[in-house]
Amino acid sequence: MRKIRIGVLGSGSGSNLQALLDAIRSDLLQAEIVLVLSDVADARILQRAKDAGIPAEWIDCFGNKNRFPEAVQQHVADRLVDAGVDLVCLAGFMRLIKSPILQRFSERIINIHPSLLPHFPGLEAWKQALDAGVTETGCTVHFVDEGMDTGTVILQAKVPIHSDDDSLSLHQRIQQQEHLIYPQAVRLVAARLGFAV
Ligand code: GRF
Repeated sequence: MRKIRIGVLGSGSGSNLQALLDAIRSDLLQAEIVLVLSDVADARILQRAKDAGIPAEWIDCFGNKNRFPEAVQQHVADRLVDAGVDLVCLAGFMRLIKSPILQRFSERIINIHPSLLPHFPGLEAWKQALDAGVTETGCTVHFVDEGMDTGTVILQAKVPIHSDDDSLSLHQRIQQQEHLIYPQAVRLVAARLGFAV
């Protein structure tokens, strides 16, 4: 059995990429990250990938701030296929994935979201939870479908909300759990797909 080959897409700091890399290094996860792509040219996730010796590329969306043009998605799908990617991991990727990528990687794209889905899909889910006055939130790893944060749930972790929490403290506490469950979820998916775990 061979190790699963992962492509990661992200727009930000890449702490979840780092968590996957750390889990691989410490033998908690049998996997190889073979390509990292970001739509933000100076995103820290690209630097983290380069530091780890992983090919890292900027996705040029031609000035589109939020849209992910179909031609660009086609290019991304081609790059992932060329790299021999088995599983696509979204880690803070801020554009909606559509058919060219979804079709090529059907049931093989997963995402980490900072709430207990189906609660608080969309942007700044930790802030949504604070504004709603709930006492507990968390994070979810789920399969990606055409919707926004709507695919089948793979793994979740709960996080308490303290009375003195602000956006920063709550997001940090959620991220600590993200870094634990994302590698575990990849392991579950890899096992389900018949790769070494
Ligand atoms: C995480 O909080 C994740 O849940 C959300 O975006 C953030 C990405 O953080 N989708 P990082 O770039 O992995 O540090």
